[in-house]
Amino acid sequence: MSRKRTAVLISGRGSNMGALISAAMVPAFPAEIALVIANRPDAKGLERAAEFNIATAVVDHKDFSGDREAFERAINDVLKEHKIDLVALAGFMRILTPYLVNAWSGRMINIHPALLPSFKGLATHERALDEGVKLHGATVHFVSAEMDDGPIIIQGAVPVLDHDTPDTLAARVLEIEHKIYPKALELVASGKAKVAGTRVLSDTGQEADTGLIWPQ
Ligand code: GAR
Repeated sequence: MSRKRTAVLISGRGSNMGALISAAMVPAFPAEIALVIANRPDAKGLERAAEFNIATAVVDHKDFSGDREAFERAINDVLKEHKIDLVALAGFMRILTPYLVNAWSGRMINIHPALLPSFKGLATHERALDEGVKLHGATVHFVSAEMDDGPIIIQGAVPVLDHDTPDTLAARVLEIEHKIYPKALELVASGKAKVAGTRVLSDTGQEADTGLIWPQ
């Protein structure tokens, strides 16, 4: 089996990156984490990746004086240099242009801390609490031209509790993020989840175990 060479793109602490690295340490996992790219030189996740002897690169968006496509071309060059097959965005806080989205169509996935299509964008936990939703969670999806949009691969849901703060809710969601992201990467890297129009088709014929928590 040839494992898909996967790049993880981060901006910060990289806990989801860590979950992907751990999952990919199992030899039978269909992806290997071959590269971590950060758009900030001080991204904490870079140190963590280096501890695992994973190649790292910094492509600092500030060096491109607002030219988003030039920034993405630089990222794409690094991805090609490392012969990358799949890209996983993990807390990569840059809005992408059609350039990178089209170059990696069907081969780039993202994790978002909300049950899409609800709560796209930032401050998802605060907004979920403000709206009084009882179920919240995270989504892994293929990346499309719109921000936090694209065919959904897996969702994980958690209850919202009466005394939750944005921090306690974020911690509960992060736990489920670390479960669903490796599963989604496994499905995509093994070819079991593929884009079909606006949806994702799975060839397993089985429900993915998403960790979804249903209200009792
Ligand atoms: C995660 O909660 C991830 O879902 C979110 O940033 C955090 C990164 O944490 N991503 C987005 O909000 C993208 N729209 P991490 O660096 O510890 O993985």
